[in-house]
Amino acid sequence: MDNAELAALALDIAREAGALARSGQAGVRIAGTKSSPIDLVTEMDQACEQLIRERLAASRPGDGFLGEESGEAVSDAASDCRWIVDPIDGTVNYVYGLPQWAVSIAAERQGVVVAGAVVAPALEEEYLGVLGQGSWRLAGGDRERLVCSQQTELAQALVATGFGYRRERRVEQGRVISALLPEIRDIRRCGAAAVDLCYVAAGRVDAGFERGLNPWDRAAGGLIATEAGARMGGLSEAPASEAMTLCAPPALYEALDRRLSALGATAPED
Ligand code: IPD
Ligand code: CA
Repeated sequence: MDNAELAALALDIAREAGALARSGQAGVRIAGTKSSPIDLVTEMDQACEQLIRERLAASRPGDGFLGEESGEAVSDAASDCRWIVDPIDGTVNYVYGLPQWAVSIAAERQGVVVAGAVVAPALEEEYLGVLGQGSWRLAGGDRERLVCSQQTELAQALVATGFGYRRERRVEQGRVISALLPEIRDIRRCGAAAVDLCYVAAGRVDAGFERGLNPWDRAAGGLIATEAGARMGGLSEAPASEAMTLCAPPALYEALDRRLSALGATAPED
């Protein structure tokens, strides 16, 4: 399969998982908690990941897999492909009946994300990206090529962000955002990092950053954003990682990188 075919497969499977999740949103049951008592996992997170894993195994036996709920499986020697999956990004929104949640599926080849799909059923939007070919928003039968914001001024920037579930991290994130907030247009905290990254791609926000994101939060959305002209990485030339994921048009990226670095946005926590 070429990268466009991998993206089409990701989209098909994300649609099926998204439909399953949407059908169960009203009667959602909590299965447990993860990094802290406020970090929820639902039975639907688990059911969707299982469905995605089964569909990928049927279509692409031998590929590797990394999923938020079920962990990692290495690929066969014959495969150069690994799937990176968040079955429901925005679980807290999902539990509260808010619409900003999404199924996120990305394909990586030799460590590079080459295809990604983010399906947000309750928003009735789908996002798709193919390395080197572009990214698109699919909604209401329309397919729109995505181009990120051209904003260069930090003072004019609408910036998406998010917060982790552990208290020590929140204290640090609160310190950083309280310094940054008076210096920008405003923040948005939509509650789903994959959706934030698609919003960067679509120019619905100018930039996004968050400390603590995992590969499954950013793999598909990050490709969709970079294919729309944004840059994604960490601070001071580091790659995107748990320490920091920053995504913005290039000029704004530099301004945010400087400011977040000066604020010690990746400083050690208590
Ligand atoms: C979370 C969401 C949220 C972000 C958290 C993530 P989950 O993912 O993306 O917006 O702020 O850091 O953990 O737990 O809903 O898959
Ligand atoms: Ca999740």
